[in-house]
Amino acid sequence: MGFFRVKKSILSGSVKISGAKNAALPILAASLLTDQEIIVSNVPDLLDIQTMLCIIRESGRNVEFENGVVKISSNVTNGTISYELVRKMRASFNVLGPLAAVLGQAKVALPGGCAIGVRPVDFHIEGLKKLGFDIEIEHGEVWAKFRKKEDEVVISLPFPSVGATEHLMTTATILNGTTIIENAAMEPEIEDLQKFLNKMGAKVNGAGTKTIVIEGVSSLRSVNHEVIPDRIEAGTYAIAIAASRGKGYIEKVISSHLDALWDVLKNTGTKVEIYEDKVFIDGTGKKKSTKINILPYPGFPTDLQPQIMVYLSVANGTSTISENVFKNRFLHVDELVRMGADIYLTNGTAIINGVKKLSGAKVEGTDLRASAALVIAGLIAEGITEVYNDFHILRGYESIVEKIRGLNGKIEHLE
Ligand code: EPZ
Repeated sequence: MGFFRVKKSILSGSVKISGAKNAALPILAASLLTDQEIIVSNVPDLLDIQTMLCIIRESGRNVEFENGVVKISSNVTNGTISYELVRKMRASFNVLGPLAAVLGQAKVALPGGCAIGVRPVDFHIEGLKKLGFDIEIEHGEVWAKFRKKEDEVVISLPFPSVGATEHLMTTATILNGTTIIENAAMEPEIEDLQKFLNKMGAKVNGAGTKTIVIEGVSSLRSVNHEVIPDRIEAGTYAIAIAASRGKGYIEKVISSHLDALWDVLKNTGTKVEIYEDKVFIDGTGKKKSTKINILPYPGFPTDLQPQIMVYLSVANGTSTISENVFKNRFLHVDELVRMGADIYLTNGTAIINGVKKLSGAKVEGTDLRASAALVIAGLIAEGITEVYNDFHILRGYESIVEKIRGLNGKIEHLE
């Protein structure tokens, strides 16, 4: 099993942000809606992206991926996606609607458990039913068969789920009539998906707000689209620079996507200067404690919760982080405590008493963002830290070793 060996470092210089994994994944899933050529650029080379490309190949479409550019051509011929691919990544489930809309029926394995807590797909399934699909769940697979869609369908999500919003919005583009998604998630990745779909000739409006309206069209055309920068990767490096008491630039970022993070960093003693497509972080000042509420966008993102916890673990005073998106996303806490952090959990809230220093240890990453947080912890801890389960990081951080070394950070990836 591979691991990352990290040593205490003060980060400085600059880092260029890759394309957003969580924008590229739904965009690639939406490529199943047409048999025309799709070109998507600024796609990060990550395990999760490779999994989605395997699914698209399994569907019968032809896929090439080189230098960040994905080219997809030819027809969808197969609507059954194997458990092996869905098991690797939950976002795979989002191909069910598009495949069933194109082929009339499709079967995708039901995603299993997940380290960041229970992650059901009930909103997806209820939404697909409203869109006119019959759904059967048998032998761990979900079988969707298109029957008939009403001319106007309103889907009101019980929680603004990112995946359900993307899945239903994508599927509805080629179904007849109007679909309205209420209480939709407002994440920037959903706006990017809308842009992609509309360039293909879809009629989608409202992404980035709570209500998305889709007017169905009969077919979609060829498209060339560049994916937005990864706000979570950008936020991770910004926190790493600040936590290490360094100074540096985050380049190729849309700064407005991270306003909630900039507010927290500024309120806790880190200088943040926003330029057109870069942000300067100065973490040399004393760090103060704060209270953070993790919420859907535009709130503070759950995908930066473990990383900001590391930053606050060495701030002066007691901070709290309340997780309202994935209530049990706290598996990193035990590992941080093993590194000397003083953190305890009560009712979905982490209470973080700032300590003077962390000390390096062997720790285990439990998911992508928890692993990134442990790498940051390793960069600020005395001595050597080894972060095991390297595959989590490889799912979501492109060239992490090169990027951290480019910031003068000491990190090695060892097998
Ligand atoms: C997306 O996951 C992201 N993944 C996650 O990033 C991110 O943490 C999450 O949104 C929240 O921002 C991708 O974009 C590929 P949700 P998703 O549906 O869509 C509940 C990362 O590290 N829910 O918005 O799966 C759910 O349990 C990953 O890059 C239901 O109850 O998240 C959760 O509590 C991890 N029923 C809440 O909604 C459903 O049918 C939000 O989940 C769907 C969701």
